[in-house]
Amino acid sequence: MQETIERLRAEALAAIGAAADEAALEAVRVSVLGRKGSLTGLLRGLKDLGDEARREAGAALNAAKDDLNAALTAREAQLGAGRPAASSGYDLTLPGRAPAPSGSLHPLQTVLEEICDIFHGMGFSRDDGPEVELDYYNFTALNFPDDHPARDIQDTFYINDKVLLRTQTSPVQVRMMERREPPLACVFPGRVYRNENADASHSSEFFQIEGLVVDRAVSMADLKDTVDTFVRNYFGASAPTRFRPHYFPFTEPSVEVDMQCILCGGKGCGTCKQGGWLEIMGAGMVHPNVFRAAGYPDDRYTGFAFGMGIDRIAMLKYGISDIRLLYENDLRFLNQFRGVQ
Ligand code: DAH
Repeated sequence: MQETIERLRAEALAAIGAAADEAALEAVRVSVLGRKGSLTGLLRGLKDLGDEARREAGAALNAAKDDLNAALTAREAQLGAGRPAASSGYDLTLPGRAPAPSGSLHPLQTVLEEICDIFHGMGFSRDDGPEVELDYYNFTALNFPDDHPARDIQDTFYINDKVLLRTQTSPVQVRMMERREPPLACVFPGRVYRNENADASHSSEFFQIEGLVVDRAVSMADLKDTVDTFVRNYFGASAPTRFRPHYFPFTEPSVEVDMQCILCGGKGCGTCKQGGWLEIMGAGMVHPNVFRAAGYPDDRYTGFAFGMGIDRIAMLKYGISDIRLLYENDLRFLNQFRGVQ
């Protein structure tokens, strides 16, 4: 009898340990301790034993029953762990919701910040000005003659006679010079607007970054060195630059700056239209009329300025062939820049 009880107890404990869920555990309980259970059967058989044997077997059976009940309770608690009382209203066993999708910087913003970082490293501060600008700052103070074609309604979004959407970041130069005395070294990134028909390389809104350095005895050599340092830092050592004479009303002399094509190394490819060079900015020495408009005393200061299209740089960097992609906010496009730096 003792052996039978011991075997039954061992088997039942093993079955309790192996029960994978509460239903399986209940089945084990019924098969051992239920009305027709194996242990219940033995208990029922006690009455047929002699006094001595009944006392011994009874004690052993009760001990086994206590053990099994304790094991059942412990296993039940284990299986139910993590499930709160039904009254809490939460079912923590339900699968969780997918994590909220994370956002990321727009590629234009990434490039803008990288460019600003490089100029910051060269000692430039950073500022901005209004996108809804006075004609005075956008044109007049920048030495644009009254009949300059850029003032034409076809290029400029006018709000009224005196107010427009800025067509360039250059007006922030004048606002800065009105507020502060040299020495100045500052960049002004921001959005600009032109009344253009959109195509793969034109958009009616785009981004520029303007730079301005004013002090006594600033020279064209300083401009060249600043541009070269920027290009080396952003595109790598193997990107020579060249200055081409040009005309801007607010600089004299004025240049356009080209960088050797980073895609073909100057050999000529589709991106540089076979020329081997990419135009990256306009620049020059600040025109005396601009200093005059800003209220600086004649001849005391010299300075250089430059203006660069950020979209162009972003398109080069990421191999984007259509500027419109940068403004359509199509998530299929933008999601490609998650985690990209
Ligand atoms: N504002 C000019 C443009 O939008 C770019 C530019 C050219 C800015 C020469 C400058 C500069 O500061 O010196 O085309």
